[in-house]
Amino acid sequence: MPKPVIKDLTIDNITENVHSINSQADDARLKYVMERLVTHMHDFARETRLSTDEWMAGIEFLTAVGKKCTDVRQEFILLSDTLGLSLLVDSIDHPKPPASTEGTVLGPYHTHDAQDQTIGTGISADPDGTPLLCLCTVKSTSGQPISDVKIDIWETDSKGSYDVQYEDYNGDKPDGRAVIRSDADGVFWFKAIVPVPYQIPDDGPVGEMLEKLGRHPWRPSHMHFMFEKEGFDHLITALYLRGDPYESSDAVFGVKESLVVDLGTVTPEQAKQYGVKEGAKLLEYDFVLVTDDETRKLRDERALEAMKRLGREHMAIKGGLLVPDVD
Ligand code: BEZ
Ligand code: FE
Repeated sequence: MPKPVIKDLTIDNITENVHSINSQADDARLKYVMERLVTHMHDFARETRLSTDEWMAGIEFLTAVGKKCTDVRQEFILLSDTLGLSLLVDSIDHPKPPASTEGTVLGPYHTHDAQDQTIGTGISADPDGTPLLCLCTVKSTSGQPISDVKIDIWETDSKGSYDVQYEDYNGDKPDGRAVIRSDADGVFWFKAIVPVPYQIPDDGPVGEMLEKLGRHPWRPSHMHFMFEKEGFDHLITALYLRGDPYESSDAVFGVKESLVVDLGTVTPEQAKQYGVKEGAKLLEYDFVLVTDDETRKLRDERALEAMKRLGREHMAIKGGLLVPDVD
């Protein structure tokens, strides 16, 4: 293919010229993603009549975001979280049929420090936390219990800090986290503390952005869960407490009504059966996982439906990814 002549570019023809040179790429998905990205970026500049100073301020902001990143601080993910992009990508890539458990943002505080624990373990050593008994099940969309699911759980302490946020933390004594496995009936239970609201890291450029936008950095009280089982779509989710002051203003847009729970109170019989104090708080939840096959089918269907709504009929799914159908 002859190289396109790139010259005399204007506000009105630069986009098609960038597309033309990028279209020499061999990878169909890369070509498509770049074509859409360049289109939206150029339209953004045209629609806002972006000034050079503003564009430079944007570059400086992204540079500061990059400089804030370390092994344990990912400011770019935080930016994606606070702009709603993380939640959006998760919703697209992990579609859920109506009766299944919805996903939500992962956040930066999952670690691989927690060791496998047996069912019934206590995940928090915080003496100031309000005791919480968690009784859960994990099933398929057809209602079959799923055994031996690896379940990663993590939450903050009663002050709203994850173990990794303490300066003297070295991974030896993970707290507020555990890995447990569901039993043959798909049951898993553990002892924790009632989650509390906390602030996302706001001492960097993302925090400054939130402040300029008149936004607060709070996340509502929640407990994170991650489910892994061969043949099932990896589920990253969290449960949120109803009535939390930030229930409908989460800084990272993670709350979904299906994930909001009302805590109960442990009955005297449950206190005896599970070895917790009478009157402790109770969280009960039945998680539903989606198989890889169900997920793949739903993802492809929704992708093609979305393209139809955009008036793009000639699209195909190749290797699980949307590309123009050129055959
Ligand atoms: C969290 O829930 O741990 C979290 C999620 C997104 C950004 C910051 C924290
Ligand atoms: Fe969290």
